[in-house]
Amino acid sequence: MSSYKLDRHILFRHRDVPNIREIDVFLADQGYQGLRKAIKEMKPSEVIDQVKAAGLRGRGGAGFPTGMKWSFIPQNISPKYIVVNGDESEPGTFKDREIMEYNPHLFIEGIALCAYAVGAATAYVYGRGEFLSTFRYLQNAINQAYEKGFLGKNILGSDFSLDIHLHLGAGAYICGEETALLNSLEGYMGQPRNRPPFPAVAGLYAKPTVINNVETLTGVPYIIQHGVEAYRKYGTEKSPGTKIISLSGRVNKPGNYEINIGTPVRYLLEELGGGIIGGKQVKAILPSGAASSILPGDKIDTAMDYEAMAAAGSMLGSGSFIVLDETVDAVWAEKKVIDFFKHESCGKCSPCREGTHWLKSIFTKITEGHGTKKDVDLLTTIINQMEGNCFCPLGEFVVPGVRTSLKFFRSEYDSRVVDEPANGAPVHLHL
Ligand SMILES: Cc1cc2nc3c(=O)[nH]c(=O)nc-3n(C[C@H](O)[C@H](O)[C@H](O)COP(=O)(O)O)c2cc1C
Ligand code: SF4
Repeated sequence: MSSYKLDRHILFRHRDVPNIREIDVFLADQGYQGLRKAIKEMKPSEVIDQVKAAGLRGRGGAGFPTGMKWSFIPQNISPKYIVVNGDESEPGTFKDREIMEYNPHLFIEGIALCAYAVGAATAYVYGRGEFLSTFRYLQNAINQAYEKGFLGKNILGSDFSLDIHLHLGAGAYICGEETALLNSLEGYMGQPRNRPPFPAVAGLYAKPTVINNVETLTGVPYIIQHGVEAYRKYGTEKSPGTKIISLSGRVNKPGNYEINIGTPVRYLLEELGGGIIGGKQVKAILPSGAASSILPGDKIDTAMDYEAMAAAGSMLGSGSFIVLDETVDAVWAEKKVIDFFKHESCGKCSPCREGTHWLKSIFTKITEGHGTKKDVDLLTTIINQMEGNCFCPLGEFVVPGVRTSLKFFRSEYDSRVVDEPANGAPVHLHL
């Protein structure tokens, strides 16, 4: 097991170097060396090539290759923008906040490298209203970076200039979806846009825009400073690097853990997370918060990389591992997920707006003891009608959780319901 232990923190340097949020401490720990190297020695296209070669994939959930995303940005159009997704809206995810709060300069350096690579002079960091204190730390670090010449006009004496602005939203799951985020940032209602056009072509203010997650960009300085080979020392061939997992639920030591990608789930639970509370058995894991298929407890030897998690029928996603033990009622747990989706559905399209409404009604009916066998079948009918018909991924995220909950825990549903009343008594729904 000990071979999975990281030899150093890449994203969580503050855990090795106290007070690294202060720029003098950060600089004394080789801070801003990646940016310095890029500006002094590399063309923007070379930065993109390095990020591509390193195999960095987006840490916001979809795992899209970052260098490829940057290469979609047209060079000859100006202005263009960087938008950093710090909404952290997935239930169980709390990693980006730790980065922004404790290691803000590494994050700022990552934003600056991205801006240098694609030729942007303005970046926005979008966070949620609850992140007020986090954004105070971040703003303080941004001010320090301006004072030392790592932001602002003619950075390190070059032609490259960059301003970073912080924006707090009101706190909505849908505003983590990149096009709804752009609407919110522009001052409109946080609802998703049609795609195409994709943000790389027409994003913020209809200009080419890179949208990346906080953790994604925070991984870039290491790649540029230490090189592709050093980065690929971590992780697997197809999923290189490290990833932060936000571990919560029925474990003794919940928290954020930076793992070597490819580490088995068992190591996370037993070694890092200190085992399951009271020595109970793992029943199931939601490895990407509410959005994921359930990973059943007998699959905890699965490696935490994009491919292995997909092969196990789930996903690595944003890495928000919510652990359920054998004492947790599976129907109750899925109802919690559905309550969340019903609350967060933006209402723009009917499959999601209506589907989450009816799912919530039926789950309430079942958990309150009024459900019938037909109701359980109706859950499948509803998700079948939602699948592939929702306007944006939020509605699609509802489907795998319900489907896998029914697949693995059908007996718990069946034991909660009764036969349909023979006399045709009215069905009691919670509308
Ligand atoms: C409903 C919904 C919520 C999302 N929430 C977040 C979020 O909180 N943070 C995030 O980085 N990405 C979130 N995403 C993914 C973003 O749309 C986008 O793919 C991501 O920010 C791209 O950055 P990356 O390539 O660096 O991962 C969400 C997507 C959906 C559909
Ligand atoms: S699927 Fe439809 S209703 Fe649901 S969040 Fe997306 S656009 Fe809104």
